Order: sequence, then structure tokens, then C-alpha cells
Amino acid sequence: MLWTEKYRPRSFDQVVGNAKQIKEIKEWVDLWIKGEKQQCLFLVGPPGTGKTTLAHIIGREFSDYVELNASDKRSYDIIKNTVGEASATRSLFSQGLKLIILDEVDGIHGTDDRGGSRAINKIIKEGHHPLILTANDLYSKRIKSFKSKCKVINIKKVHTNSINALLKRICSQEGVTFDDMVLKELAKRSNGDMRSAINDLEVLARGKESIDKSNLKEVGVKDSRSNIFDSVRRVLKSKNLPKIRQAMYLDEDPTLVMEVMAENIPREYEKPQEIQRAYEMISLADLNFGRARSSRNYSYWRYASDFMGIGVALSKKETYRKFARYTGSTSFALLGKTRSKRDLRDRVADKMAEKMHISRQVAISQFPYLTLIFENDEMAYEIASYLGLEDDEVKLFRKRKIKKPPKKKTTSPKKIDTDKLKSDGINSSIYAKKSKSKPKSSPSPDKKVPPKDKPLKRKKIPKKSAEENNKPSPDTKEKEKEKQTSLFQF
Ligand SMILES: Nc1ncnc2c1ncn2[C@@H]1O[C@H](COP(=O)(O)OP(=O)(O)OP(=O)(O)O)[C@@H](O)[C@H]1O
Ligand SMILES: [Mg+2]
Repeated sequence: MLWTEKYRPRSFDQVVGNAKQIKEIKEWVDLWIKGEKQQCLFLVGPPGTGKTTLAHIIGREFSDYVELNASDKRSYDIIKNTVGEASATRSLFSQGLKLIILDEVDGIHGTDDRGGSRAINKIIKEGHHPLILTANDLYSKRIKSFKSKCKVINIKKVHTNSINALLKRICSQEGVTFDDMVLKELAKRSNGDMRSAINDLEVLARGKESIDKSNLKEVGVKDSRSNIFDSVRRVLKSKNLPKIRQAMYLDEDPTLVMEVMAENIPREYEKPQEIQRAYEMISLADLNFGRARSSRNYSYWRYASDFMGIGVALSKKETYRKFARYTGSTSFALLGKTRSKRDLRDRVADKMAEKMHISRQVAISQFPYLTLIFENDEMAYEIASYLGLEDDEVKLFRKRKIKKPPKKKTTSPKKIDTDKLKSDGINSSIYAKKSKSKPKSSPSPDKKVPPKDKPLKRKKIPKKSAEENNKPSPDTKEKEKEKQTSLFQF
């Protein structure tokens, strides 16, 4: 069992941190049980701080609870049934009070009319049932319609000292002696994320009698030499957690690594239970990759790689002494089918990486934003021009072709004239980088200069006819500048 599971708090007093919040939660529970209907409880906070854990603990206070994931459309049918059935049959308060937990509501399908917010709003409105929602992002659009109707409890990052104390407790329960400084460092690195602190500790300490400073470098060091098969082999063949963690840091699409891993599990593992357990881990990894994509919160990538690395590795009791020929044929065949799609994806990511000085992976993580931004013709045109995207590359973000806007004097669709921008007084660091070779010239006094710290916010520009657009107006230049700077908002 993974340590995060083994040491998951089972009662309120085991939950670390957030004392004030827990007090409020307890009051909420007590009032419900006394028979006073309460607003829906909304636990909001960063990953790994105990929201789901708290929801489960609260669940135990009620006669029954059902936990559903908000991003799963089927959840809403279950809710409808639960609500219908329970409100009809429930006799009196604490008897038959069924708590509904809807986890990760910032992942609901916002655009789907059938499910999502509407269903949640409905249960909130009916108010017969204690309901708990959890989310990472209080400002997500998807939760806007019901946020105000809930009692929001902000679950905060856990304080380093409290994390440190818990890590110490785990070490002593596991019989591991430790250097104080190591645990302090792990607690600090976790940045309030309890799940990652415990995962890190497990990597360092599992199976050891003691840990000291020298072990610290074992967590989070990138092994660039690994390729997919090395990584998969390491996970399946060994139980050396630091090495496994390292093997998971590789410059490959992690979902491909996951596919190859999944394909090879039954080639290495022989006991059905181990195979089953390993596949459960793969499915958790998959879930977390999905969460990373939809929430754009990259803590989930780390959790995902821990599930497919450490989780799969620990699914076996003993390591097998045998030679297993690994294959990637199915994964790669699948990959072959989607090869052109992936090539396209990589081509676009590379263009972004080069222009924006980011890595390919970060570029890919921006795709969902781009899909949204590309709904707007004007923005789509600007960004596509700036990145130099071909028509087929644009299709990655929108199906319709981008209409060419009416010709404007000052914009060059293919290339931004950075020298000109500079002479116009635009002094963003990006432009500065591009024209490194030239000395910084101060903007000429007769030109309007946007203030340096002006937020890169795009103002809504009213639609104009082509004719009007071609007419130079006194503030056309200003607007052009705004458009140019808006390229860097995403
Ligand atoms: N406050 C806490 N006290 C003790 N352990 C914790 C706490 N928060 C998290 N953990 C540990 O981290 C693991 C994950 O916590 P949990 O799933 O509750 O986080 P979460 O806030 O729901 O995160 P996410 O936003 O990713 O869903 C738990 O199993 C537990 O081991
Ligand atoms: Mg959770």
C-alpha cells in the first residue's frame, strides 16, 4: 500500500493543519445531525491538502454517503436517483441522512447542458441533502453559478512545520531513523502539498533503516539518459524507489510511457493479484494525467508519474528473476496511427517553444488555452501569424479556417517588425530579447508610450467596417500596440 493511503487520516484529529476550518466543518456536521438544514459545504484548496480526505471523514458522521466524481457524467444520473429516492423515503433527520460528495467540481463538463452545473444547482436548491463539493480553483468559471450558494471553506496549504511533524511520525512508525534536516527539507520542498511530501518520503525511506542528507539528492533528479524501455524496465524489475522516481523523469510523452508500461505489465508480473494491482495504478495514473490536462495544474503530472512508477513497482511482492522480452508494439502501432496527429502537435509545440522561450511540454500544456482563444477570429489570426502556423496547424485549435481580417496598414501578418515596435516605444522584455544586438533606445518623446507596468490586458475593440479600419485614426497606433502585446498573454 502506498504511504499516502496507509497514512491517510481517518478522523478529524488526524488531519494536519487547517484547525479553524475543521472546527467550522464540525459545526456544519453537528447542525445537520441536529436536523438543521445547512448550505452545501464547498472545500476549496490546492492539491494534496486533504479535501477528499476530509470529505470522507465527514461522510462517516452520516448514516451513509455516496462519493461521485464531478467530471464523470454518469455522476449526475446517480445524483438524480439518490436525491429522488432519499427525499421520498427519508423519515427523520439523522436517520437516513445521506451525504453526497461531489469531488473536483472544477472538472465538470461546463458546456454539456445535461449534466454539470445544472444538476449541482438543482441539488443545492432542493437542499434536502447534505452536500460537499471540492475544487482546486475557486475562480473556475465552471463553478461560478453555484459558488455563492455554498458555504465555502478555504483549505490552506499545510504549514511546513506540521508536514515535518507528520513525516517524523511516519518515519518512526516505519522504523526509519532520520536526519532532522532531511525531513525539514522534504517538508519545505513540498510547498504545502502533503501528498507530495509523503510520496517523496516514501521514495527516500521505504525499505531503509535510516536516511540522511546524502539521500536527498535521490529525489527529483532528472535522468536524461533513460529512454522509455529503460524506464519501464526499471519500474517492473526493481523496487528501488529513488531509482524508479528518477526513471520517470524522462523527455518523453508520459502517456506513451504509461501505454508501454501497461503493455508490459503481464510480461513481467505473473501473479494475478499483482497484475490487477498494477493496472489499478495505471488507471490512477491515467486519471491524474487527465486531471493535469483539464485543470492545467501540473502537480497532477507528478502524482500520475508516481502512480505509474512507484505504484506499479510496488504492486509486486518480489522482483522476478527472469528475462522478459518487453514490447512496445501495440503502443507504438497505436502511436503510428496517431503519428501524424502527434507530429502535428509537436510541430506546433516547437514553434511555440521557439517563439515563447518555453519547453515543448509547457507549450503543449497551453493548447487548451489556445483552443479557447482561437474561438475569436481576430485573436486566432494574430496568434497564428505570430507563430507562423500553417492552415493544417491551425486546425489543431479550431475547425474553421481563419478569415483574413481586412488589411491594415501597420500589421504585418507574417512577421512582427520588432524594430518598429521598439521604435514605437514598446519595451516588453520579449521584444528587448529579440533586438538584443541593438542598444536600447529611449522612446521618442512625441510618441505615445504605454506605461511599462501596464498589465497586458486586452481591451475589447469594437468591430469596425473594413473602410473604417483602413482610415488612420489618432489612436489606431495605440490599438495596434495593444493587439501586438496581447499576443503574449497566454
Ligand atoms: N491535512 C492532511 N493531513 C494529513 N495527511 C494529509 C493531509 N492532506 C493530505 N494528506 C495526505 O495526502 C493524501 C492526499 O490527500 P487528499 O486526497 O485528501 O488531497 P486533496 O486535497 O483531495 O487533493 P486533490 O486536490 O489533488 O484532490 C492523503 O491520502 C494523505 O495521505
Ligand atoms: Mg481530492
